[in-house]
Amino acid sequence: MARLAINVDHVATIRQARLAPEPDPVAAAMFAELAGAHGIVVHLREDRRHIQDRDVTVLRKTIKTKMNLEMSATKEMVEIAQKIKPDVVTLVPEKRQELTTEGGLDVVLFETPLARVIEMLHGSGIAVSVFIEPDAKHIKAAQRLEADYIELHTGAFAEAQSFPNRQEQYERLITAARLAKKLDIGVHAGHGVDYQNILWLKNITEIEEFSIGHSIIARAVLIGMDRAVREMLQLIG
Ligand code: PXP
Repeated sequence: MARLAINVDHVATIRQARLAPEPDPVAAAMFAELAGAHGIVVHLREDRRHIQDRDVTVLRKTIKTKMNLEMSATKEMVEIAQKIKPDVVTLVPEKRQELTTEGGLDVVLFETPLARVIEMLHGSGIAVSVFIEPDAKHIKAAQRLEADYIELHTGAFAEAQSFPNRQEQYERLITAARLAKKLDIGVHAGHGVDYQNILWLKNITEIEEFSIGHSIIARAVLIGMDRAVREMLQLIG
């Protein structure tokens, strides 16, 4: 069975909407671990729109499984990672205007600067993953960069509207996962993975870990609604 890493960014998104202390992504991470999650993922964005510096500091002390810090390959973020020392850093592209990470990191175009960043992270004892499109050229570049893992971007598969397109995107993921495995690179996958499409993706046995945020946080909000309302009614009544 593949491991499940939970991205708790959206818990912080709700908190930041009110600039309130709750809900705390640290508490959400604890609940996720108690439920059996194998790891916790947070994306410290340059604009700090959800996860804050305090969150990564506290999470480093409280996560009992594995901490995966998603970040852009900038000087500021590398310095933070070297201080925090997450178990894994996942390098992602970042654009200020995007709603979420839109595409994979172009590890071919940015091979030279990325080599230096990965070397620095490795030097601090941090494993490195690169979030890439499921293309052979990116997987081969990840190998040249000595990345420990690739995270295959499952967005095109998750968003495919027609069955033939979904099938095509699925085949791309299978081919990419097999190539990475052959090259001895660990395979993670994420973006848009939900309670339906996981039934396809779990059959790609080369995928060692799924990184899932939105669908799980969305479901947690809905299935928690009944209890939350009943508790308040009890207090009123
Ligand atoms: N992996 C990476 C690299 C991401 O940027 C994201 C989105 O934050 C995810 C996985 C999780 O995607 P989703 O929230 O759609 O499950």
